[in-house]
Parts: sequence; C-alpha cells; structure tokens
Amino acid sequence: MTGTHSDALVFFGATGDLAYKKIFPTLQAMAKRGHLDIPIVGVAKAGWNLDQLRARARESVEKHGGLDREAFDRMCRLLRYVDGDYHDTLTFNQLRKELGSAERPAYYLAIPPALFGMVTQNLACTNCSNGARVIVEKPFGTDLASARELNHILLGTFPESGIFRIDHYLGKQPVRNLLYFRFANVFLHSLWNRSTVESVQITMAEDFGVQGRGAFYDHTGTVRDVVQNHIFQILSNLAMEPPVRTDSESIRDEKVKVLKAIAPIDEKSIVRGQFRGYQNEGGVAHGSRTETFATLKLEVNSWRWQGVPFYIRAGKQMPVTCTEILVRLRRPPDVYHAQPALEQNHIRLRISPDVAIALGMMVLKPDRDIEGRPIEMVANHHPEANEMDAYERVLGEAIAGDTTLFAREDYVEEAWRIVDPVLRAETPVYEYEPGTWGPQEASQSIVPPGGWHAPVLSPAAPQNAERRAA
Ligand code: BG6
Repeated sequence: MTGTHSDALVFFGATGDLAYKKIFPTLQAMAKRGHLDIPIVGVAKAGWNLDQLRARARESVEKHGGLDREAFDRMCRLLRYVDGDYHDTLTFNQLRKELGSAERPAYYLAIPPALFGMVTQNLACTNCSNGARVIVEKPFGTDLASARELNHILLGTFPESGIFRIDHYLGKQPVRNLLYFRFANVFLHSLWNRSTVESVQITMAEDFGVQGRGAFYDHTGTVRDVVQNHIFQILSNLAMEPPVRTDSESIRDEKVKVLKAIAPIDEKSIVRGQFRGYQNEGGVAHGSRTETFATLKLEVNSWRWQGVPFYIRAGKQMPVTCTEILVRLRRPPDVYHAQPALEQNHIRLRISPDVAIALGMMVLKPDRDIEGRPIEMVANHHPEANEMDAYERVLGEAIAGDTTLFAREDYVEEAWRIVDPVLRAETPVYEYEPGTWGPQEASQSIVPPGGWHAPVLSPAAPQNAERRAA
C-alpha cells in the first residue's frame, strides 16, 4: 500500500555513526537518482552549525561510496541543522520552526533506543508529531520484554501505520524476489510443501569478524544481530502463504502467521560458538560468552510445513561471505537401483554476494544406459553498480509511506518470542577456528539430512573488499 509521501525528513543523531556510515551516503544516492526533493533536517547536540554538518556529510560520502559532486550539492541545498539537547523542548520548538509548512515529516531516530521515549514525547508536546511518521533501526529491542517496551513507547505517539522499523534485508532485491519467485511461478506450487520438501537450510556466513564493532557486538551476539531479524525475514518469505491481496497489511499478515507457527527454540536445538581471538577485539569483555556463530533447527508447524525441519546457520569468521538458501527435496523412488544412490533434487537461492537461482537435478551421463550424474541449472545475476541498494530502498519506501518492507509490531514480538528462551539460557559457547564452519559440536548435532551445503562463490561474484567499498 502506498501512503502519503513525507514532506520533510528529520534525522536525530545527525553527527553520529549511523548518519556518517549510512544516512549521508544514502541521501546522496537518492539525490543522484532524482528521488530526494524534500527538506532534510539534521538534529544533534554537538555545538555545530550547518556548515560543519555539511563538512561531515562530505567526509561521510567520500569515505562510503565516493563523492558525486552534483548529487551532493543537491542534497546539501536541502540540508538544515538544529543543534540542541533532546531533553529540552526548545530544541523541538526550533525544529518545528525549521520544518516551516511541512505537515508530514518523517523522523529518523538514529539515536540509542534509550532516548526514544524522551524524543517522541517532546515531538508530541511541541506540535511536531501530528501527521508524522517515525523510522527506527534494528535491533528493535534486545529481547521480547524490551521490544514490547519500545513498541509501547512509539505507539504512545505514533499509530502503527506511522512506525517504520528498518530491517535492511527486506530492502534487498533478492530477498524481495523470494516472494515474487514463489508466487509468480506455477511450477513451484505443487512442490513447495511438506510432501516434496525434505528440509530447508539457510546460511548467512561472513568471512570477517566484528570490524571494530566489538562493544556493540558483545552485547548483541549472532542470534540478536542477524537471526531474529534478517534470517527470520528470509524464512518468512520462504514459508508464508500467498497473500490474499498485495497490499502491505495482507503481506505482513501472512509473514506473522509463519512466526506464530514456530515454537520457542529449545536449548537442544541450538549450538553457539565463538571464534578464537574474538576476546582480543576492542570493546569485547574478557571472558565474554557472546556467540559469534549460531546454528539452530526449528519447525514451522503449519499445514504446509509440519515435519519439515528448517536449519539456520550464521556466523562471523566463516570460510566465505555468502547468504544462501537450500531447499532439499525428497528422494524419488529409485526405479534405477542407482549405485551410488540418486542425489536429491534441490532449489538453491543465493542472496549475496551474487544472486542466483539454481535447480539441482539428475541427468543421464553421456553414453551410459542408466548411470546418472547430478547437475545444476543456474540463473545468475551480478548486481550492477547503479542498482539501488537495500538501505536506499527502505529509506525511500519509508519516506513514500509504504510499510510493506518494514517489520510490524506483532511480527517483531513474535520473532523475539521464538528466540527469547535461548537468549536467557546459559547454553555452552564453543570455540571455533576462524575460517571454519563453526565448532565441532555444531557439526555433530545440528545437521540437515544429507548434510550442510557449503556455498561456493562464483569467480564473478563481488569480493568482500569490493562489497564494502560499494
Ligand atoms: C547487520 C549486522 O544488520 O547486517 C552485521 O549488524 C552484518 O553484523 C550485516 O554484518 C550484514 O548485512 P549485509 O547486507 O552485509 O549482508
């Protein structure tokens, strides 16, 4: 559903890290594409003026993706700045003045969640919140209780339709394509269920560590950082029923139903690991028990999926950087008495670094009567430099007022409900060598039938250095 377009974008935390790493480069990209034509107001308490903010914006884009002079100038012409304390209503009165005739501002809270309550209350009492919307980043809470608390705070000032909880994975085109692929192709219809699918595995591997984010990561860990959000979004897209309509609520209704069908994960269904050397990273506590790897098994207890195990594996310092799904199909009756046994068919969906859809099947070997071999038919896509990135897409959609690519209140709470017990349980954290697929204990207990598929990178896939520079 397309809502009304915001007529100003305000970002709190204008001098902070998120603005520096993500917001300015994204605004420049939007300006370049001709998608930015509303006033942009940065708010922070730094004792700065607009020129200083512009200088910071310039440094930010130079560092993250490169300066595009024309687009940058266009963005700077739209930029305003309010310097002030978030405790002080004067700051918000000044903001209201700066907003001029804007009636539908979007407030991006690029600030710690602990400040959300104060900022939203001050927006409300200074006549800044009517007709407005709010954009917040992940992680949304750190467990079920804190997510409920944040929802309570935001819903005190904004309606649910005006709250945009970012999960940038939803802005990735291949993640959106999971839904399109499923519901625009009839050949999948009869096989996408428990009768034909044996198991589903989702791997999100990164071949690097915490990249200077040790202090953040040590309070977060893999389950909170990527499983509860990015991976569950992938899983929901894979497992949901076709929406009855294509509006945002119909789509989001179906996604919530997937999570509702998943029981809380029990301690036996998860193995956590920590790479050797993690505790030497800056900001990481000595003796930390935070996981940098997690593998888990769960079941979507629905008519379509009951009995089909879903396996998740995510971690830092893995052998490759790759996000990939493998849907393994059941064995056919072996009329050929094949030796060795027929390999199972699969559908492989590569999300990143390159994008691919592959069908794994058996074919007859050349010049043989009944001896077969497995092959894969692969459709590849190598993203081009000017394709819209996930972050630009979600920010653009938030400004446009379309909630489809954002996590709804009930969805985030359901997602936390599933992982909540293991967040609190003191399950062991096993050490693993960097560059491996996690601890031994993982490969002994949480293993899909037929084993884990190890993603192989195509030589044309963008390598990490390129990905990070992009
Ligand atoms: C972020 C996590 O949300 O997603 C990071 O905090 C992770 O730890 C990142 O590296 C992965 O995103 P992408 O788009 O690079 O796959």
